[in-house]
Amino acid sequence: MRKILVIGAGGQIGTELVMRLREKIGNDQVIAADLKDDCPEALFNGPYRKMDALDRDDVRSYIIDEKITEVYLLAALLSATAENNPAFAWKLNMEGLFIILDLAKEGYLDKIFWPSSIAVFGPTTPQVNTPQLTIMEPTTVYGISKQAGERWCEYYHDQYGVDVRSIRYPGLISYTSLPGGGTTDYAVDIFYQAKLQNKFTCFLSENTRLPMMYMEDAIRATLELMEAPKESIKVRSSYNLSGCNFTPKEIASEIVKHQPDFQISYDPDFRQKIADTWPGSIDDSPARKDWGWKEEVDLKELVRLMLFNVNVELLT
Ligand code: NAD
Ligand code: SER
Repeated sequence: MRKILVIGAGGQIGTELVMRLREKIGNDQVIAADLKDDCPEALFNGPYRKMDALDRDDVRSYIIDEKITEVYLLAALLSATAENNPAFAWKLNMEGLFIILDLAKEGYLDKIFWPSSIAVFGPTTPQVNTPQLTIMEPTTVYGISKQAGERWCEYYHDQYGVDVRSIRYPGLISYTSLPGGGTTDYAVDIFYQAKLQNKFTCFLSENTRLPMMYMEDAIRATLELMEAPKESIKVRSSYNLSGCNFTPKEIASEIVKHQPDFQISYDPDFRQKIADTWPGSIDDSPARKDWGWKEEVDLKELVRLMLFNVNVELLT
């Protein structure tokens, strides 16, 4: 019987992933774990365990004693937060991964999901339709940790047969919980400010194009990847994945179609430098070919869904 542990479940992806996994395999079969003392309200319908992804003994004994079969390891520092604390970002993003990879190597886990990011690319990467295999010279500590993580995932698969699967998520847009400190967070904040004050100051410049994706597409991709037959997973580092891509100016223009008086201004900060090193669009043909990936939500639909669903009370 499948028993899933989601570590870092209280964040932007984890909250929605746990909800969907519980719908699929049953509330009691999916344990949400996070550093946070309290279980997020959205996850009250199933088990919650306070857990530090870096506490090797606790993570190991919990997974072994509870006979966990799959781990989704989401705990990490994201790009902007990581730049403010590089040493800790490296520790969290790498050590947490090794604890889980080693458990799978020892035969305690059937499958692992570990997310990578478009941050694995860097200023020397081709920025348009970035291919799966290309130059990768990330310049952020977050990107370096994700790239190293990808190499180790592939190594554990090739050397020890570990069934680890991964996606290079683009910037994810959602309304159930707030984003956790990334460079793409502006594309979520913009909806809260559109609702609160009908204007927004963006920390990226108007023509900064980045790959993005609506959360529902990202969760569906994750589940499809994890349910695909082992033999069809040809990429064991991490799959490129594309949803849509846009600039701050383009998303603002789309919001104006719903709120004609909406105004955007630009005040780029340190995150501009990070965004400038990332691709503007992604070629995800291996994901389409290997496990049938196809996005459903474009920019127009994403804006409609976000404006309809965003609840500004989440900010308080
Ligand atoms: P988030 O910051 O919203 O959530 C991370 C969660 O991990 C938080 O609830 C936090 O409390 C928890 N956490 C932090 N340290 C922990 C620890 N030591 N032990 C247990 N829990 C801990 O992040 P997210 O956006 O949900 O991202 C999840 C993963 O997906 C990360 O690996 C991130 O790099 C990756 N990713 C996210 C995006 C995105 O746009 N959100 C894009 C690409 C990749
Ligand atoms: N959304 C993430 C970030 O900006 C991309 O990995 O950090």
